Amino acid sequence: MQEFTDKTAVVTGAASGIGRALVEKFAKAGCHVVAADVDAAGLEETRKRAEALGARAIGVHCDVTRQDNLDACADAAYEAFGAVHILCNNAGVLSGGTTWELPIEDYQWQIAVNTLGPIHGVRSFVPRMLEQQSEGHIVNTASMAALTTMPFAGAYHLSKHACLAFTECLYHELRETKLGVSVLCPELINTGIAESERVRPEGFQHRDKDFEVSPAGKMVVDALANGMKTIGLDPSVMADRVHAAIQEDRFYILAEDAWRDACNTRLDDIREGRNPTFAPPTV
Ligand SMILES: NC(=O)c1ccc[n+]([C@@H]2O[C@H](COP(=O)([O-])OP(=O)(O)OC[C@H]3O[C@@H](n4cnc5c(N)ncnc54)[C@H](O)[C@@H]3O)[C@@H](O)[C@H]2O)c1
Repeated sequence: MQEFTDKTAVVTGAASGIGRALVEKFAKAGCHVVAADVDAAGLEETRKRAEALGARAIGVHCDVTRQDNLDACADAAYEAFGAVHILCNNAGVLSGGTTWELPIEDYQWQIAVNTLGPIHGVRSFVPRMLEQQSEGHIVNTASMAALTTMPFAGAYHLSKHACLAFTECLYHELRETKLGVSVLCPELINTGIAESERVRPEGFQHRDKDFEVSPAGKMVVDALANGMKTIGLDPSVMADRVHAAIQEDRFYILAEDAWRDACNTRLDDIREGRNPTFAPPTV
């Protein structure tokens, strides 16, 4: 897809971080935008920013863990703009802990947002985008965590590995159509993801009222928050990468070399039948 003027872009997780940067990028490129999120105040701020950049913009309350919310989001998008050309399934959350300590609600929450979110988005939008018979592009936000494994963030890694596999399958299925597909695999970006608890939906609260985050879980989230503040990239870098990948019809939108080395080490382990190397990226 080369031309963005008067095209419609839908972005989930648009109230903050990478999602907001995507909305701003598409608005600057001449798109109409549909910003979707559960955070009403953040969503309104994003919508205003898009309008200030000259775009027609609507904000839609949408919990990506629910198929009916994505269906309603698609209805709102088609009603407002008559067509959808770009779909970014971007909403995501993270919590940490050892695989055996992490509460089942945390597994269910991360799978529901990070894996089922993009699945719901694809199921609600792709049939209509195909019917449209126009050029379009779908971008699912996975992570470099989709290509690597680290301790204490098992639910996040598995939800993102599944998102990547799902998106590769989608790519194969759509290759003879006018719809392109990309997977965004960010490295460390300075966003609100370390405060994901702020948007934990009702159905995913801990049933154990005395639950406390384990030391491993706290360590991971603190390290993430600290890393994002010190070496995290600005979310606009991701938006620029996504824009370029859509134009180039490029599937993998990957991080810089240090993260790719970590990914390559894992692939070498698999190829050579070695036990998994602990190889965090050295940035
Ligand atoms: N920040 C990073 O370092 C990093 C690295 C790799 C991947 N990612 C991925 O990037 C994406 C965007 O995250 P971010 O870093 O901008 O974080 P963020 O917290 O700034 O933004 C995430 C957005 O998703 C929304 N959201 C959460 N649950 C939702 C739900 N159930 N329904 C709808 N919206 C919901 C939040 O309200 C928020 O606006 C996520 O998929 C995340 O996993 C981030």
